[in-house]
Amino acid sequence: MTANSRLCLLVLAAASAAAQDSLFVESAECSLCHTRLGEKSQLGQYTLWKGSVMAHAGRDPYWQAKTAEEIKQNPAIAKVVEEKCHRCHTPQRKPQANDGVGCTACHLIEDKGLGTPASFTGGLEINKEHLAYGPHKDAFVNPMIMHVGLTPAYGAHMQKSELCATCHTVITPTVDASGKVLGEFIEQAAYLEWKASSFGSGDMTCQSCHVPLADNPKQHYIAHNPMGRTFPPTSPRQPFGIHRFAGANFSLPVLLGSADSSMAERAHDMLSSATAIEVKPAWKDGVLEASVTLTNLTGHKLPTGFPSRRMWLDFEVLDASGKTVFRSGGEPQEPQLHHAVIDSSSKVQIYESEMADPAGRPTTALLRAASYLKDNRILPDGFDAAKAPAGIHPAGVAGDADFLPGSDTTLYRVAGLAPGSYTIRVRALYENIKPSHRGVLSPAQVKALAALAPVVLAEATAQTVRGVTAQKIQRSLASR
Ligand code: HEC
Ligand code: HEC
Ligand code: HEC
Ligand code: HEC
Ligand code: HEC
Repeated sequence: MTANSRLCLLVLAAASAAAQDSLFVESAECSLCHTRLGEKSQLGQYTLWKGSVMAHAGRDPYWQAKTAEEIKQNPAIAKVVEEKCHRCHTPQRKPQANDGVGCTACHLIEDKGLGTPASFTGGLEINKEHLAYGPHKDAFVNPMIMHVGLTPAYGAHMQKSELCATCHTVITPTVDASGKVLGEFIEQAAYLEWKASSFGSGDMTCQSCHVPLADNPKQHYIAHNPMGRTFPPTSPRQPFGIHRFAGANFSLPVLLGSADSSMAERAHDMLSSATAIEVKPAWKDGVLEASVTLTNLTGHKLPTGFPSRRMWLDFEVLDASGKTVFRSGGEPQEPQLHHAVIDSSSKVQIYESEMADPAGRPTTALLRAASYLKDNRILPDGFDAAKAPAGIHPAGVAGDADFLPGSDTTLYRVAGLAPGSYTIRVRALYENIKPSHRGVLSPAQVKALAALAPVVLAEATAQTVRGVTAQKIQRSLASR
């Protein structure tokens, strides 16, 4: 990129930011009527949103540390980097930057170009007519116009994945140390992954899992007056989307020093529905051969999102006395290649993405990343590579015939086990910030994370007896 086009980028970014600033409203102003939804209901949009990860996107200590580091590594384009990193994490910018992804950052998005490349990487357009879009066609508009200057309005796009695609498709430039742009890199692609899967042509949207509909919508008014009573002209409404926005981030509350357990609980709930695990033991020439299949139950890759995430298998064989005789897992410190077969305890199956710089060296720097050295994250159901850009195709899995859309199977081969009965225990573990990505954090933050156990997504056990013993039993039975 020339100095001239770099300047252009800068000017464009600044102009669009300033123009959109004045259209947003602080989320606290919505709390007046969108907090108490009936005496018993805990489903107020404001209450739930406030405890979500998105509400903390601009205060997230990991994001702050990473942004500072990216700016430091790219001094020639510091302003561009700063704008880029703020675009989705503090879309409402000043004076409401503390809102993170506030109510109006979603509800004011115009249905324009959604789902097209121009809308990705935060390329959303905020409507200038002061409309707050929602799923209802005949909202009672007066209270909102009076109090916050916004008119509730129907917008079919609020229930489509393309709305979320704006910020959940993160494409970054590959830049060298002098600020020269060498290409671009798809850093996050929850939407593109979803689009290329069986979900992309079905009814399960991002909202289906992340803003789930209330079971009994007949009970739910969508707004209450500041006294907690209903506005006389309104009735309970359907659909009613529960603003949980649960994902996988259970580390953020620890980094924030927050005592509120609800954010971590939401993540634990979500993670417990992410995968199913199956183990099938067999013996071949006296060698234990156990196949472990992980199925992806989410609507995108597992894990999806930021490249610091990882999931791995902790596989153990215990003898009849309960002693571990083989283990592949524990807490691996370094990334590894993908394995089709694991025959030694030094090999661990880690499902993760590993970024490479233009010279093909591993990197964790977002703006140096040019390609993936490895991306063996489990594909969503029905993933069709022909429907996905090359930048999100799996990487480093060649030669593993059972790395398939929706699942992967790992074959564990354990030799040298004496005759006897064994228990196989396998767990799928998950962590938000893997050790190789912790360099930007302070020693105190690293310590706090180290004290946090990985989450167990799923677990399976199987009993097996080494064949020789079974034959012996048969022989002794026959001789009686
Ligand atoms: C990340 C995007 C996002 C944010 C942030 C967000 N909402 Fe929503 N909101 C939605 C979506 C999507 C729906 C539609 C849900 C459905 O019906 O499927 C919705 C629906 C609504 C509705 C209609 C009734 C309902 O609950 O379904 C109201 C009212 C509402 N939101 C208010 C708020 C308020 C107030 C805030 C801030 C405290 C907020 N929203 C934050 C995405 C968002
Ligand atoms: C297009 C929107 C967008 C842009 C631009 C963007 N991010 Fe993000 N970022 C996201 C989303 C969405 C997530 C959540 C992904 C997840 O939960 O896995 C995220 C997550 C993160 C996280 C992980 C936070 C945590 O608590 O684990 C870090 C760190 C981060 N971003 C840093 C940056 C930096 C640095 C930049 C600028 C180079 C940047 N982001 C630009 C959308 C964006
Ligand atoms: C003074 C009360 C009040 C305040 C403050 C308020 N709202 Fe509302 N909101 C309402 C009422 C009343 C409705 C319509 C209820 C109905 O018709 O059932 C509504 C409906 C909505 C809808 C649904 C629109 C649709 O057509 O589906 C959205 C979205 C919404 N509000 C967002 C917000 C946001 C964002 C804020 C803060 C910027 C906010 N509201 C502040 C009272 C309020
Ligand atoms: C079938 C249900 C389902 C659908 C559909 C779905 N998700 Fe998810 N999502 C999950 C589950 C379960 C998790 C937790 C496991 C994980 O991190 O992949 C998750 C995690 C996430 C995370 C958090 C990742 C992190 O690192 O913290 C983000 C962001 C996300 N989804 C965005 C989306 C977007 C955007 C869409 C639509 C394009 C979508 N999801 C569609 C189930 C779903
Ligand atoms: C204006 C940008 C923006 C929009 C629009 C947006 N998101 Fe996000 N979302 C973010 C950012 C930024 C983060 C990461 C915050 C962090 O980790 O610091 C995030 C995080 C999340 C997470 C992760 C929570 C966790 O625990 O890991 C989920 C789930 C999610 N968003 C769902 C959605 C869904 C569903 C939609 C559409 C209805 C949506 N988002 C629309 C910017 C956005």
